[in-house]
Amino acid sequence: MSANDFVRIVEVGPRDGLQNEARHVPAATKIALIDRLSACGLSVVEATSFVSPKWVPQMADAAQVLGGIVRADGVLYPVLVPNDTGLSRALEAGVREIAVFTAASDAFNQRNINCDVDESLRRLAPVVARAKAEGLWVRGYVSTVLGCPYQGRVPLHDVVRVARALDAMGCAEISLGDTIGVGTAKKARQMLEACAAEVPMAQLAVHFHDTYGQALANVYACLEAGVRVVDSSVAGLGGCPYAQGASGNLASEDLVYLLHGLGLQTGVDLDALCDTARWINAELGREPVSKLARIAAERRFRG
Ligand code: HMG
Ligand code: MG
Repeated sequence: MSANDFVRIVEVGPRDGLQNEARHVPAATKIALIDRLSACGLSVVEATSFVSPKWVPQMADAAQVLGGIVRADGVLYPVLVPNDTGLSRALEAGVREIAVFTAASDAFNQRNINCDVDESLRRLAPVVARAKAEGLWVRGYVSTVLGCPYQGRVPLHDVVRVARALDAMGCAEISLGDTIGVGTAKKARQMLEACAAEVPMAQLAVHFHDTYGQALANVYACLEAGVRVVDSSVAGLGGCPYAQGASGNLASEDLVYLLHGLGLQTGVDLDALCDTARWINAELGREPVSKLARIAAERRFRG
């Protein structure tokens, strides 16, 4: 298997998925979810957020959740960190990987992190520098790369500028987020290629919400362009509490089915992942939204 045949899935369900749940999810459920996901063979499980609990109450138990998980060998457990306070809390909890986040549009950033893009970059630079000095692995997110719920169209050069800034700060990986899932395949590929002209493709990841049902097509287009890191969320959980109209992420089990069908390796046990999707749906009292979680219940033939 060449490195080009392996796709690293960044499972964001416990963070991007659960942050948006209106009802409180017990820490024990979050811990069980993370442990189930690592047991499925996922090598990166974004575990929680050290953001302000006033802004995202669902993530207030971040330290408790991290303290309860069984850290599997070789698995990364990044956490979202918005500022220096968040970094201090993450370090206290023994975190080794963090993700900082901003967006390509001022309007979204104002609602999500209470400052514009330039100010967010100024604030994040010392946070990333401190994290790196502590030996942490740092990922950076750019949101609203294919559209903003408040501003509408987002110029490509704004996306590229922010990706470049996060790279210059020292982020090892930059995830390009279609926060509200409005993108389509051609635009997704163009956006990725524009960023890859400035930041090496090997450092880029794609992160598609599935609001308009385009996420898998977008992933396919981006795989053809060379990306090999893809974010997704078990059971298609998720949304952003500060992005009006955003639905869940691309479901991890649907993504794995596509990737394995293309002959790409993921290291993920698809049956175990489907079981996990059904389990978390039951815990949250909801019907499965992913195709695979629905079909797996019926044990139909899979190609
Ligand atoms: P602010 O209100 O401007 O900040 O929020 P502040 O510094 O004035 O702090 C307000 C209060 O929060 C203070 O408490 C701080 O101490 C406290 P008070 O003095 O009032 O008692 N505080 C904190 N407490 C714990 N941990 C912290 C922290 N920071 C401040 N880290 C801030 C600014 C950035 C903090 C806030 O806006 C925030 O936390 N936003 C996070 C929003 C969020 O988590 N959104 C979802 C994640 S992004 C996403 O989902 C997109 C993504 O998936 C990619 C995609 O799909 O595009 C990544
Ligand atoms: Mg997201």
